[in-house]
Amino acid sequence: MSRTIIISNRLPTKVQRAATGLTFQPSEGGLATGLGSIYRAKGNVWVGWPGLSVDDPAEQDHVREQLSADSMAPVFLTEAEIRDFYEGFSNSTLWPTFHYFPQYATYEQAHWDAYVAVNEKFCQAVLALAGPDDTIWVHDYQLLLLPEMLRRERPEATIGFFLHIPFPSYELLRALPWGTELVRGMLGADLIGFHTFDYMHHFLSAVSHLLGLPNHNGQVEMPDRPVLVDAFPMGIDYQRYADAAVSEAAQQHEQAYRQALGDAKVVLSIDRLDYSKGIAQRLHAFEALLVRYPEWRERVNLLMVVVPSRDQVPQYAALKEEIDELVGRINAQYRTISWNPIHYFYRSFPFEELSALYRLADVALVTPVRDGMNLVAKEFIASKADQRGVLVLSERAGAAQELAEALLINPTNTNQVVEALREALHLPDEEQQTRMAAMQQLVRQYDVFAWTRLFMDRLTYSKIKQHTLA
Ligand code: UDP
Ligand code: G6P
Repeated sequence: MSRTIIISNRLPTKVQRAATGLTFQPSEGGLATGLGSIYRAKGNVWVGWPGLSVDDPAEQDHVREQLSADSMAPVFLTEAEIRDFYEGFSNSTLWPTFHYFPQYATYEQAHWDAYVAVNEKFCQAVLALAGPDDTIWVHDYQLLLLPEMLRRERPEATIGFFLHIPFPSYELLRALPWGTELVRGMLGADLIGFHTFDYMHHFLSAVSHLLGLPNHNGQVEMPDRPVLVDAFPMGIDYQRYADAAVSEAAQQHEQAYRQALGDAKVVLSIDRLDYSKGIAQRLHAFEALLVRYPEWRERVNLLMVVVPSRDQVPQYAALKEEIDELVGRINAQYRTISWNPIHYFYRSFPFEELSALYRLADVALVTPVRDGMNLVAKEFIASKADQRGVLVLSERAGAAQELAEALLINPTNTNQVVEALREALHLPDEEQQTRMAAMQQLVRQYDVFAWTRLFMDRLTYSKIKQHTLA
């Protein structure tokens, strides 16, 4: 039977070391939460890193056993690989470059060498697991070299690749000493998917600049075979969020939160701690709202969930300090005995509690300065059973290409964010429902299952096309 082997750096389960031994928890981040609903089907396997360093062979066996019971196969990284491949090349070189923060990027030969070595390690893990009929689906920027490495070993294999973050304009990519190798690595796939047409066009432009390869309607002519490139905006497991939102557990949590907050309106934000998410910009805008429209003091709360992420990378550690400082200052300046403007949580939440937060929120404030897609925006929409609630969304998130009924803003334009927030807080119920209904229809129809089907159908088509050309 043919299966799909999903490969990403991070597994949907993260293993952590606690006083009592190893614990197994769901991972955060759009890739893991989004694909979490599809990988178990039909004997599929998900290959990836469990999120911590495990050197002891007995412990490795234990982790392998636990994960394999849930269709996962771990690739273990050493401390040095975590430092140089994960924190280094992946998150200090590629992530800032692809999110238009070249000033944060470092260019270290040792990090590049580790990136090549770890992609090779993943390649060996996949080769050991994949049969000749299996479909191989590689995900995200940590594994850009893997498609070509696999192709070298298995020229006939069916290989798909999906990038979950933006693909930047060629001007950004050319700053990287290794741009050509990265683009060539991706072209080992038969189909390369992006969230938006802009990212796809940037990729095709890089292919033509760096490799001189032409393309016609998104088809790159490699010497040995054509490679298809296309846009597939990722969806969520809509029903899971819609069901959770009306569950007993979510309603109870919501009631408890509501009691604590009184009848103040709730503005919600949820993201990993990341400079791409515009968290500081959001705090400045919320403060500006309280200054410009003092009538909202004591009548609105910002609930801000920030999930710890990549905290060993210096830029992330610095951002944590900046946010702590900003929240502290704003709260100290505006709070009253009975009201605290910002409720800031620096931790992750269990699923039912996240669902309750989405239910509770009057406004979701999603302000990334760059974001491949942003699934939080879609989860908020799916959680609104009564269709009340307003999405204020950055035009620089991939999701903004689809969610035209959101209030779209430029997150660096504080004035605009303040006015959008005020508009959101005043928006009549009827208008909220009209906008929400339209967005729900779209997010429900293009859910993660439809997304997977579209990608897989196109991958099958790319193989048929190759065979008819051969
Ligand atoms: N998330 C989570 N636990 C939390 C907070 C967030 O699992 O406590 C999830 C959230 O539900 C969403 C994902 O993390 O599915 C974030 O994905 P998004 O696409 O918005 O951004 P990314 O982190 O991938 O950049
Ligand atoms: C984004 C990336 C994913 C990554 C996730 C969490 O969604 O596209 O590849 O897994 O962030 O980041 P982390 O570094 O914790 O895996």
